[in-house]
Amino acid sequence: MSAAAAPMQGEFHLSDGDYETIARMAHAHAGIMLGTGKRQLVYSRLAKQVRRRGMADFADYVALLRNDADARREAIFALTTNHTKFFREDHHFTHFAEHVRPDLLARSERGTPVRLWSAACSSGEEPYTLAMTLLGEDRAGGGRIAQRDIAILATDLAPHVIATAKAGRYPADMARDIPDRFRRTWVKPVGDEIAMAPELQRVIAYKHLNLLESWPMRGRFDVIFCRNVMIYFDEPTKARLLERFAGLIPAGGYMYIGHSERLIGPAATMFDSVGHTIYRRRG
Ligand SMILES: C[S@@+](CC[C@H](N)C(=O)[O-])C[C@H]1O[C@@H](n2cnc3c(N)ncnc32)[C@H](O)[C@@H]1O
Repeated sequence: MSAAAAPMQGEFHLSDGDYETIARMAHAHAGIMLGTGKRQLVYSRLAKQVRRRGMADFADYVALLRNDADARREAIFALTTNHTKFFREDHHFTHFAEHVRPDLLARSERGTPVRLWSAACSSGEEPYTLAMTLLGEDRAGGGRIAQRDIAILATDLAPHVIATAKAGRYPADMARDIPDRFRRTWVKPVGDEIAMAPELQRVIAYKHLNLLESWPMRGRFDVIFCRNVMIYFDEPTKARLLERFAGLIPAGGYMYIGHSERLIGPAATMFDSVGHTIYRRRG
C-alpha cells in the first residue's frame, strides 16, 4: 500500500480525499507542494487545529476549510516549515562582507539608497544576520551606518514568524550560532533570552508577503536573499519567482539562494554564478 493510500492512524482520521484537498489548498495558496511523504507532517501540524475546534475528525475540519478563508489561511500558516538560524549557510555572509558590503557602504555614504530583501525570512534570523554583517563589528560605526538610507525588507507568508522577528527576542542558546565578534556588539542577554540591538531593528522593515501574490514594492533591490523556500515549490513556480526577482535586481546586484536550490527558467541566463548559490545580475 502506498503512503498516499495508507489510512492515517492517530487521534483523528485523515482520509486520502481530505489529505489531497489539504495538499491542493497549500499548493494553490502558497505554492507549497505536499507529496505523499508529507502526510505525517500534515497530520501533526493540523491535528492541533482539529482538536482546538473540538472537531471529531479531519472531515469536519476540511469542510470548514472549504468555506472559511480565515481558517484556510491559518491552516496554511501552520503548514509552513520555518526552520532557520543565525548565520545559516555562513559562506553567503562571508561573500557579502567581502564582495558586496564595501560597495554598498561607499554608495550609502554618498547618499545613494541601499535596499536589500530577505524574502521568506521566517522568524528573522536571516535579516538580523544580514544587518549585523552590513553594520559591522563596531557598535559606534555600525550605529552611524544605520542612520543612512539603508533598508532591509524582510517578508514572510506566516504572521507568527513575522511577530517573532519583529520582537527580536530569541532563546539564549541560539546565540551560539552568532560569531563572538558580532554577538558582543549586537546581542544583549536578557534573562534566558537574547535581544537584538535597536540599530539592527532600525534598518529592518518586516512585512507579511506571499511570494506568489502581487508585490507592493516599487523600487529595486541591490541584493535579494531567497533561501530555502523554493525547495517547497514546483518547477514552474520557482522559474516564475526567480524571473520576478531578476526583474527587481539592477545589473551588478546579487541574488543568494539556498544550498539545494538552483537558478532555472529565464533567470538562469540573467545572472553569472559568482560563488556557491550566489549570483550576480548581468548588465
Ligand atoms: C525554511 S524557512 C527559510 C528561512 C530562511 N530564508 C532561511 O534560509 O533560513 C521557509 C520560509 O518560507 C515561508 N514561505 C513558505 N511559502 C511562502 C510563500 N508562498 N510566500 C512567502 N513565504 C513563504 C515559510 O513561512 C517559512 O518561514
